[in-house]
Amino acid sequence: MNSADLLKVAEEHGTPTYVYDFEKVREQIIKLKTAFTYPKTRFLYAIKANFNPHLVTEITRNGFGIDAVSPEEVIFGYLHGADPPSIMFTGNNMSDEDMKTIYESEVLLNIDSLSRLKGFGKKYPGSDVCVRFNPNIGAGDHQHNITGGEESKFGISHSQLQDVLDIVNKYNLNLVGIHHHIGSGWLDIESPLNALEIILQLAHEIQGLEFIDLGGGLGIPYKPNEKELNIKILGNRISERFSGFCEKDYGKELELRLEPGRYVVAQAGHLLVEVTTLKENPQGRIFVGVNSGMNHMIRVPFYDAYHRIINLSNLNGKQKTYYVCGNVCESSDFFAKDRQIPEIREGDILSIEDTGAYGFAMSSDYQLRSRPAEVIVDGNKIFLSRKREILKPLLSKYEKLIQNPQS
Ligand code: LLP
Repeated sequence: MNSADLLKVAEEHGTPTYVYDFEKVREQIIKLKTAFTYPKTRFLYAIKANFNPHLVTEITRNGFGIDAVSPEEVIFGYLHGADPPSIMFTGNNMSDEDMKTIYESEVLLNIDSLSRLKGFGKKYPGSDVCVRFNPNIGAGDHQHNITGGEESKFGISHSQLQDVLDIVNKYNLNLVGIHHHIGSGWLDIESPLNALEIILQLAHEIQGLEFIDLGGGLGIPYKPNEKELNIKILGNRISERFSGFCEKDYGKELELRLEPGRYVVAQAGHLLVEVTTLKENPQGRIFVGVNSGMNHMIRVPFYDAYHRIINLSNLNGKQKTYYVCGNVCESSDFFAKDRQIPEIREGDILSIEDTGAYGFAMSSDYQLRSRPAEVIVDGNKIFLSRKREILKPLLSKYEKLIQNPQS
């Protein structure tokens, strides 16, 4: 999407607004589909990255299933084009209620603790199930994003395979799939390839599998000097190794599953904000205050993330150093620090880039400010997907939740 189009969206729909570019989403989908040459590859979109209904519908329309981590995500995926066999529920610290709801909706459960596996077996003997393993390999762009290794709360250790098999046998379960997700935002291909070896070793010991799911985590280059993930090589290497394993070791063509979230949607998203205040302190630091904040996009304070910022109103202005911050009463409420950006004036429109994944999805009602609007751009079609919440309906939502506070 070009800057003029983004500016047009800001003029028509106001700010703060998330804009999602469907052409970019489709481009990422094609990159994934062409890189993974193994014919029985299936992609499940990690809906936690962005649950915008139009976006999810577009992704399922392109043949993706859904990776869900809450019953609500399962329902949402189902309502937006994914049928139950193409959804998997990966439950961390799953409750009895979650287990029952999902089981009854005929969506496959991916279980990540021995105690839950036992509970599942007791309640639903003879059922299909998937197990999430921790391969003791983790990777990610921040400590918070690493989900493999001994410090991780996720999965059953790969060294506890025998315990898994004992439970599976005791309750006559059909272990149809095994899964891992080593972390999120990695750009190297070594860690996923090493983890692949571990899960293939596990698969070798398990009879009757139908699929192996390698999770998501494929990163995108947020920083200008970061190299893109080499998706072609990654896809080819995994496909070749997987197909060789099925042919020579396992004796059956298994399905290969992946659960990308960020890779599909991050670069398609732009958060448009307006500069409300410029403040220069005596030490020469210039703070750029905007009409948004960490309540709308928490990735910078939470993961020390880097997001490029474009001054749409002054693309060729003289570069200056800025500290771009939000309107939330928190000291960590920044979008960028010590950043060179073409000269910024009050009233300018900035685009916070690569915010299609974990942007709106992690936004909150903190400090009771409205969440941004969401606008879709699909070729030359531009439409409002979700209105900006305004204070009144937001407050009435709260009033309904508070039951008679006086009594
Ligand atoms: N599968 C499972 C089981 C996951 O837990 C996740 C992400 C994914 C797939 C998708 O990962 P992706 O392809 O999107 O990297 N809020 C963080 C990311 C947390 C990811 C949690 N799990 C961020 O903004 O960086």
